[in-house]
Formats: sequence, C-alpha cells, structure tokens
Amino acid sequence: MKKEFSQMPETFKEVWAGEFEGFAWHDFLTAIPSVLFLITSYKSNGKENACLQSWSTFVGDKGEFICIIGSVSKRSHLYQTLKDTKCCVLNFPSRDIYDKCSETIKNNNFDDDEITKSGLTVEKAVSVNAPRIKECFLNIECEYLWEHEHFEKSRDVTVALRAKHICMDVDKCDENTIGRYGKSGYMYNIHSPRNPETGEVTPDCFGALEKYK
Ligand SMILES: Cc1cc2nc3c(=O)[nH]c(=O)nc-3n(C[C@H](O)[C@H](O)[C@H](O)COP(=O)(O)O)c2cc1C
Repeated sequence: MKKEFSQMPETFKEVWAGEFEGFAWHDFLTAIPSVLFLITSYKSNGKENACLQSWSTFVGDKGEFICIIGSVSKRSHLYQTLKDTKCCVLNFPSRDIYDKCSETIKNNNFDDDEITKSGLTVEKAVSVNAPRIKECFLNIECEYLWEHEHFEKSRDVTVALRAKHICMDVDKCDENTIGRYGKSGYMYNIHSPRNPETGEVTPDCFGALEKYK
C-alpha cells in the first residue's frame, strides 16, 4: 500500500524555529540522500573559503563533466566568490575527517582562512585559482558556467560548473581493494527523515554506499 502526499503531513513539527522555511517538508518526507563535499575558493581578501554542500549531481555530456550544484545560498561567501573568481574546487571527504570539515561552518568569518583554521591542509590547485583540501580523497577543479534561480526570488540558486582537472587518491582507484564506496568512501547526507504516520524525526546523519549486484 502507498500513501499520497500533496500537503505537509499534520504530524510534522519543526525541530527548530524556521526549519520548514529553510527547507521543504518534501525534503524530510523523501529524505533522498545526496553526496557530501566541500566547495573551496578564495574570498576577495585572499582568505580561504570552504562551504559544505549537498543536494547536487554530476553529469557527463559530449565529453564535458558538468557539476550541478543544486543549492547555493545567495547569502553565502561561496556565492560571492563564484561571482568574483569564476572557479572553485569540489573536495570529497571520507568520514574520518568530517569533524574538521564541519568546523568550517564555525570558522566562517570573512577574515578566516576557513580551511587552515579548521585543521585541514591547503594545497595548490593545478588548473584554477582556488585552494584544494589535501586530506580529501577526491578534488574536482572547476570553472563557473551559469546559475539559475530555483524560482523567482528564490533564496538559493542552482550553479553549473565545468570540471577542468581531477585529482584522486590512488587508494580509491581500485574497486577490488579500498575503492570509492563503503565507510571509507563517499559520504552521503541524510537530512532528518520523518515518519509521516507518527511525525518521529530521525536526526541528521550520514551514510555510506553499499555496492550490490
Ligand atoms: C551536511 C551539510 C550540508 C550542507 N549543504 C549545503 C548546501 O547544499 N548548500 C548551502 O548553501 N549550504 C549548505 N550547508 C551550509 C553551509 O555549509 C554553511 O552555511 C557554510 O558555512 C556556508 O559557507 P560560506 O558562507 O563560507 O560559503 C550545509 C551544511 C551541512 C552541515
């Protein structure tokens, strides 16, 4: 048996004030997981910027690899740095360094070197003027292509980036050994799944991808 949902279930209650303004109830109902990464760039004062991201996807078209960043807040440093520099790096962490990655949310002042201050190491990108995070197992260096509002005057925009260069840890290359998945590979953001029958909230958590045939 399936259930139909055109409106927010009455059982859904905000965990924090403004939660349903910041996010859609559909997000909590579907709780579709998405890969987690940090976008790094330079602010106009030359300081490092880092922004944890989710809700994104990656597509290949005519030999170009296009990163569709689903939800970039217009109020973020990231949005401003993309406007200014037209480039960035996507850095994919495994869970052993997640705590440091989340520190970048606290170390978010304009004058902060957000990567270094969070205990992570900056390395120079090969093809763009943006910092790369050494501890992340995959770095995709990108140039800005375009942005689009989700709807008129939406808070966030979708941004398309073109990959120019990729750097990947050799340990991750062989799917017969460590590979890219499981608990040492890509991290997935699982955003507060709710049970529409009872309203029960499963707190934010992270997941790993298990391969099956
Ligand atoms: C798990 C997780 C996922 C996030 N995903 C996004 C996202 O997709 N888009 C976004 O704008 N902010 C997202 N954020 C919030 C930003 O990472 C956070 O506001 C950040 O400090 C903004 O950085 P900036 O203003 O320096 O660019 C996420 C935060 C967490 C903890």
